[in-house]
Amino acid sequence: MGLLRKLLLWISENRRLRETLPRHAFIRRAVARFMPGEKVEDALQAAQTLKAKNIATLLTLLGENITKAEEAKQVTEHYIDVLGRVEKSALDSHISVKLTQLGLDLGEELCLENLSAVIGQAAANNNWVWIDMEQSSYVDRTLSLYKKVREQYPRVGVCLQAYLYRIPKDIEQLLPLAPAIRLVKGAYAEPEGVAYPKKKDVDAKYFELAKVLLSNLKVNGVTLGIATHDKVLIRRICQEAEAMGLSKDGFEFQLLYGIQTEEQLRLTKEGYRVRVLISYGSHWFPWYMRRLAERPANVLFAIKNVWRS
Ligand code: FDA
Repeated sequence: MGLLRKLLLWISENRRLRETLPRHAFIRRAVARFMPGEKVEDALQAAQTLKAKNIATLLTLLGENITKAEEAKQVTEHYIDVLGRVEKSALDSHISVKLTQLGLDLGEELCLENLSAVIGQAAANNNWVWIDMEQSSYVDRTLSLYKKVREQYPRVGVCLQAYLYRIPKDIEQLLPLAPAIRLVKGAYAEPEGVAYPKKKDVDAKYFELAKVLLSNLKVNGVTLGIATHDKVLIRRICQEAEAMGLSKDGFEFQLLYGIQTEEQLRLTKEGYRVRVLISYGSHWFPWYMRRLAERPANVLFAIKNVWRS
């Protein structure tokens, strides 16, 4: 892992910097590239704009590692309200949640209660909830909660990170549940003992896992979100799906708001399903640092904003 990437991921988890850095105007301006605004209304407006381009969306309120049960409850109520707004606006917008924002650090039972409330509302609206994957220390608990809710609800998916050595086994265990899986490379700083440190190994693993999941779309009823901006990988996955005789709408590509927008449009035009994850909310700092770490050239973009200020 590059030094700059390591530094940015360290900053993302440093409590003091998390509180002070977001106050700087130039950082606030730079983050605008990745989110349409802090309010849910901004996200819904962006979802409407994307809908007009045939692009579906995923909405997520930024925030993680909540330490008070009342706050986790407020997040739960917020998502229930958002599901209602999505229904009213006839948007094809799923919800994406972080379990530590629904109280996972306070206990699995509390988190399950909150998660079930959100999924229950989504189910009533025939909508979907996706569960993000956080640091490797949360993977066991996240998958255990996913299995519990999946037994009851069909429209719930979970994110799996290709950089973790354990993922092939996790996929094997999830397959009998006809899971919905969003495959990502992985965004956190993980020790070499749990995750591939080299990008080329992560890329190779991603392709291998994508092939396994594609081959299980029909056999095991897997729902698949290929969540990457890697154009080379995207092309290889399209070719592989075609060679397997899968239809273009048999799975979907998921990308982040503001990243590879031309690729989003290209895939849509070619007949693939595309879903863009729109983040909003005021707790954007750690998330924004992870976006910078994914592409250190983004740091230059942020620095240029200092001169414009
Ligand atoms: P890669 O990093 O190789 O990037 C490929 C190309 O895409 C780059 O060369 C660049 O052109 C462009 N690009 C990528 N990131 C960029 C950025 N930040 N800014 C500008 N350009 C960029 N992770 C996780 O651990 N848990 C999760 O729950 C999720 N959820 C999630 C949902 C969705 C819909 C997406 C798209 C991604 C996630 N991720 C995630 C993040 C994921 O793990 C990964 O860190 C990023 O997607 C970056 O990796 P890529 O696959 O895009 O490839």
